[in-house]
Amino acid sequence: MVLVARKPSRRSLLRQRVALGVWRYAEGLPFRREVRPVSLQEGGTPLVVSSHLRKELGMHELYIKNEGQNPTGSFKDRGMTVAVTRATQRGARTLICASTGNTSASLAAYAARGSLEAVVIVPTGKVASGKLVQATVHGARILRVKGNFDEALELVMGVVRKNPALYLMNSINPYRIEGQKTLAYEVFEQLGGRVPDYVVLPVGNAGNISAIWKGFLELKSWGISERLPKMVGVQAAGAAPIVEAYEKKRDYVEPWRDAKTMASAIRIGKPVSWRKALRAIRDSGGLSMTVTDSEIIQARDELASKEGLFVEAASATPIAALEHLRGEFKPHSTIVCVTTGNGLKDQESVKVDLEKAPELSGGQDLLDALRSNASG
Ligand SMILES: Cc1ncc(COP(=O)(O)O)c(C=O)c1O
Repeated sequence: MVLVARKPSRRSLLRQRVALGVWRYAEGLPFRREVRPVSLQEGGTPLVVSSHLRKELGMHELYIKNEGQNPTGSFKDRGMTVAVTRATQRGARTLICASTGNTSASLAAYAARGSLEAVVIVPTGKVASGKLVQATVHGARILRVKGNFDEALELVMGVVRKNPALYLMNSINPYRIEGQKTLAYEVFEQLGGRVPDYVVLPVGNAGNISAIWKGFLELKSWGISERLPKMVGVQAAGAAPIVEAYEKKRDYVEPWRDAKTMASAIRIGKPVSWRKALRAIRDSGGLSMTVTDSEIIQARDELASKEGLFVEAASATPIAALEHLRGEFKPHSTIVCVTTGNGLKDQESVKVDLEKAPELSGGQDLLDALRSNASG
């Protein structure tokens, strides 16, 4: 999209503009009095036009909303800026969360920014090391729970209930959802005032799908937009309680005790926001579906090698889902896939075999290697 079609006047060039991002939408956030945001300039992430995958899949308009470009590399920053701002307003000192990784990285950074203490509880041995590096370097206190994310969250919620001095930062905190809903406003603006036909995104604890749906509902109820998108929630086949409820037409979610997937960010069997997620999917006329781990890896690699976008495994689930959704989309559908986290956080899942890379001892070796590659 070419945005500068005509030469701007010099005066308008210097006019102050509020950049795209979470706080551009301050009027849509639930603060009654003026606040000073604890911000790292989150949001305002690119809506990238897919050229190769779009053609391969025979789709009309396909966009990738690349949330990995947020300050700590995931969509969590949108909610964290708002929730940490709220925490400072309330005079909270110690912020706590259970996390599959990205929430802890984001909380640690925003707590540092707001001069607050961060405590993060992670399931032992199950968090991508890049995310732990972030939590460490930002100075969070890291504690482990022997068990999975669901058990870690239950433990934290139980303790917070009895200790009001601790401020809970998981997505049951409504201020997180308020920040995350701004993705909907932003996509609407980036599409030139249009609502996409479909928003496809990964679902774990189900906060994000609920938040984005809320954003689109608000745009419509405020008379800014006229329609709503269909929400498509994608889960890994081994961790799919929402998909199960959707497929069985249940109005409740049966927790999965032993959720399994290599996409650790969405390895969640007992999603806290299940009720809102089911409502978003059903009320929007959308759907929920699974993809396998091997489809996730293939989609991640294709997105990286064909579109130049490196996302973490969980974030590749909407791309993996596209192949299955082809029959669902109308010929002129506008589709937005939300890629939620940056691939650099999750490097363990990429095999790098440096031993196989030829070692050069001179220019001739380089030419030989190029030649053998061309002939092989
Ligand atoms: C990269 C990534 N994608 C998706 C999700 C799932 O989001 P939600 O728990 O809001 O459904 C998470 C949650 O941790 C995540 O880190």
